[in-house]
Amino acid sequence: MQHPDALRWDSRYSDEADWYSLRSPRHLVTSHLNLLPPNGLVLDMAGGTTSTGRYLAAHGWRVMVLDVSLVALQLARKKSNKESLPISFAVLDLMNPWLPASHFDVILNFYFLSRPLWDTYRKALKPGGLLFFETYLSEPGPDPTHYLNTQELRLAFNDWQIFHYLEVERLAPSRKGGQRTRWSAQLVARKPE
Ligand SMILES: C[S@@+](CC[C@H](N)C(=O)[O-])C[C@H]1O[C@@H](n2cnc3c(N)ncnc32)[C@H](O)[C@@H]1O
Repeated sequence: MQHPDALRWDSRYSDEADWYSLRSPRHLVTSHLNLLPPNGLVLDMAGGTTSTGRYLAAHGWRVMVLDVSLVALQLARKKSNKESLPISFAVLDLMNPWLPASHFDVILNFYFLSRPLWDTYRKALKPGGLLFFETYLSEPGPDPTHYLNTQELRLAFNDWQIFHYLEVERLAPSRKGGQRTRWSAQLVARKPE
């Protein structure tokens, strides 16, 4: 039996392969490159076609991408093979996975929310490792389990060195061509040494 999230996302990535493949790396990362050490291991959680992972791999980082969608990872692998980028991929349900302790230099979590993962990130990052996190804030209507409450993300990592926390309203691009404004929370934080 297929995982329901895999079914949903495989169909989105199949229908909109070009749109997903051609996305730019996340600005939250490209605007904080000064915080990153010159090389290391990046984990892109629910990375999809991993535009940011491909950008970092092209700049000397080793990247591992996990996602429930095989279709997304196939698209990403096709692009990264063409550019001979050092990226590895695995298909996995990430709602509450085990990850090795003190293993990653950087973790990326963009537009995917599973709160049990926060404890996992605390363990899986090396001391001094960086977490980049951005996803939607809740608004009336949608299922609140998939959306952050205001200040929730900052409070969850309050004991880390926080370089950036912002709640921003932005135009969210739509696969169907339209645009609408959505609120997101952004965090860049370093695990204590
Ligand atoms: C909005 S996309 C974000 C993709 C990427 N992080 C980015 O910022 O472009 C959400 C991603 O979460 C993945 N996803 C959804 N449910 C998942 C699950 N249970 N386990 C792992 N990945 C999941 C989807 O396949 C999709 O790639």
